[in-house]
Amino acid sequence: MQVSKRIFELETETAFAVLAKANKLASEGKNIINLGIGQPDFNTPINIQEAAIKAIRDGHHGYTASNGIPELREAISKLVLDKYNAKIKPENVLITPGGKPVIFISALLLGGEDNEIIYPDPGFPIYRSMIKYSGAKAVPLKLSEKDNFEIDIDHLKELITDKTSLIIVNNPNNPTGSFMNKRKIHDLVNLLDHYPNVSILSDEIYSNIIFNDEKMPSLLEYPNLMNRLIVLEGWSKTYCMTGWRLGWSIWPDKLIEHANKICVNYNSCATSISQYAGLEAINGSQIEILKIVSEFQKRKEYVYDELNKLDKVSCFEPGGAFYAFPNISKSGLNGSEFSKIALEEKGVALVPGSSFGDNADHFVRISFANSLENIKEAIKRLSAI
Ligand SMILES: Cc1ncc(COP(=O)(O)O)c(C=O)c1O
Repeated sequence: MQVSKRIFELETETAFAVLAKANKLASEGKNIINLGIGQPDFNTPINIQEAAIKAIRDGHHGYTASNGIPELREAISKLVLDKYNAKIKPENVLITPGGKPVIFISALLLGGEDNEIIYPDPGFPIYRSMIKYSGAKAVPLKLSEKDNFEIDIDHLKELITDKTSLIIVNNPNNPTGSFMNKRKIHDLVNLLDHYPNVSILSDEIYSNIIFNDEKMPSLLEYPNLMNRLIVLEGWSKTYCMTGWRLGWSIWPDKLIEHANKICVNYNSCATSISQYAGLEAINGSQIEILKIVSEFQKRKEYVYDELNKLDKVSCFEPGGAFYAFPNISKSGLNGSEFSKIALEEKGVALVPGSSFGDNADHFVRISFANSLENIKEAIKRLSAI
């Protein structure tokens, strides 16, 4: 069989393998606490569920426009105006089946053999996978614990060459829970201003889950970036809709038609029913969401305090998303060994830092998308490693 050589460049997302293993152990009767998976443990709010049921009853069963229903793209255009004062036309909004396809499309449009793409390491594993699949050189931007896993602007500058076509930024960050505030984003934009030919993919999928009353500093707030900025966003994390497969993104004029053409070729459109549900999510009450964020804040405080009480673990304070990224080097184990013992001997599913790049061998990712009660029990179990 003549399999395409490119396919061997694709990597995977270990969190899914951890989930499968944790589910298997649970089905064998083991008591497993899952702190591995990156999805909220809450149900999709009821008003959103009802909107989906209504969409089915109203007969929204067919294909939609490949870039998404006009009402939804208009709602996104209004949302970014209200939230970030960003003037984005609905024609520059693309609705996709989840946020992930935006990484795929960006890599296909801006990758290829001649180009270099800079991505955060540790970072969401799909970035490196898709860059390599596109044929481009994947250039890791090391995020360090000493910088609270924020971007070191001088280091980023050193990595930019005349072959750099795209820089991927993720704020708040998966897997570290790091959050870059307005001042830091400002410094980043100052640097980007010196490289007008470099495009930016800003992955802001955790933009609504930010702690300590900080505000999301979106790159959409900088009109000077608009002709080369792609923003990845979506419903999965904010509205607890990971399984609905719905994401939104903003594209510059020069790329939107190409991006839409990839959608026509690949997925035709996002699920019509999810799109109507997504419309209700944006236009409907946000009270449930505020409650969920305040629950994540409580859990963050608990996880941060309790992890730092353990002898062999130290953890910096997460500023957003629902992850903690403790350093476990004092245990004498690396992240993979620690996670293996955690799952097989203590019944706690975690993801090793090595799943997120080459710069986090002595870390593990803890997702606090689980009840406080389960988190308490999990930390008790981890204290015995
Ligand atoms: C940083 C980051 N970007 C994008 C995604 C993809 O989200 P979606 O489930 O909407 O495809 C995830 C999901 O875990 C993520 O953590």
